[in-house]
Amino acid sequence: MKIHFLGHSCFLLEGSKKVIIDPYLKPDNPVALKTAEEIECDYILATHGHRDHLGSSIAISKRTGATIIAAWEVVYHCQTLGATGHGMHIGGVNQFDGIKVKLTQALHGSGHITEEGKPVTYLGNPCGFLVWMDGICLYHSGDTGLFGDMRTVIGDLNKIDVACLCIPGNYMMDPDDAVIAADWLKAKYVIPMHYNSTPHTEQDPQAFKAKLESKTNSEGIILKPGESFEI
Ligand code: NI
Ligand code: MN
Repeated sequence: MKIHFLGHSCFLLEGSKKVIIDPYLKPDNPVALKTAEEIECDYILATHGHRDHLGSSIAISKRTGATIIAAWEVVYHCQTLGATGHGMHIGGVNQFDGIKVKLTQALHGSGHITEEGKPVTYLGNPCGFLVWMDGICLYHSGDTGLFGDMRTVIGDLNKIDVACLCIPGNYMMDPDDAVIAADWLKAKYVIPMHYNSTPHTEQDPQAFKAKLESKTNSEGIILKPGESFEI
């Protein structure tokens, strides 16, 4: 499986199928190199309704026919705007063309700005994802604060190969909490995400990698937008 980092929390997983997670792309995403029009994929996984995650999900689904997999409220919102979707909820698991997807807890919000200046539309609970494709298990935390079930429900019960963890602080885990998360998750590789892209996300990924590798058995993989990691 090839893991392409497209910037912020957006990854394109390329294996027997193509799966994009949190497609926040150019020009909305200041660090992304690709636009939504350049994306070809089979499935779109959206962790929550914030614009830097739901991003271009609807546009990509409408153009390519890709199915949006997310919390039911997110999917319902996307379907009313013409997208194709499959609703799930936290703790739920399903198979899609040989790809297994499970929704995991995330401590965060999921308010969506439908119209600037108007109250947000709340799109259910935010989530993370466990994705199994071609024998590889990847965990994408979504936006979340540290929570204890990362150790038990997610880490102990699954053999995670790659964990993509948010590290910006302010709205979610900072590098110190993400190192604790990595210790609990016991993933072979940890890819930091959601840093140096939007306001309040300034972090040093090298310092995170150094601390991660001194405190856990995980190897830190730092990807710049446009770079890939093959496992
Ligand atoms: Ni968010
Ligand atoms: Mn975010």
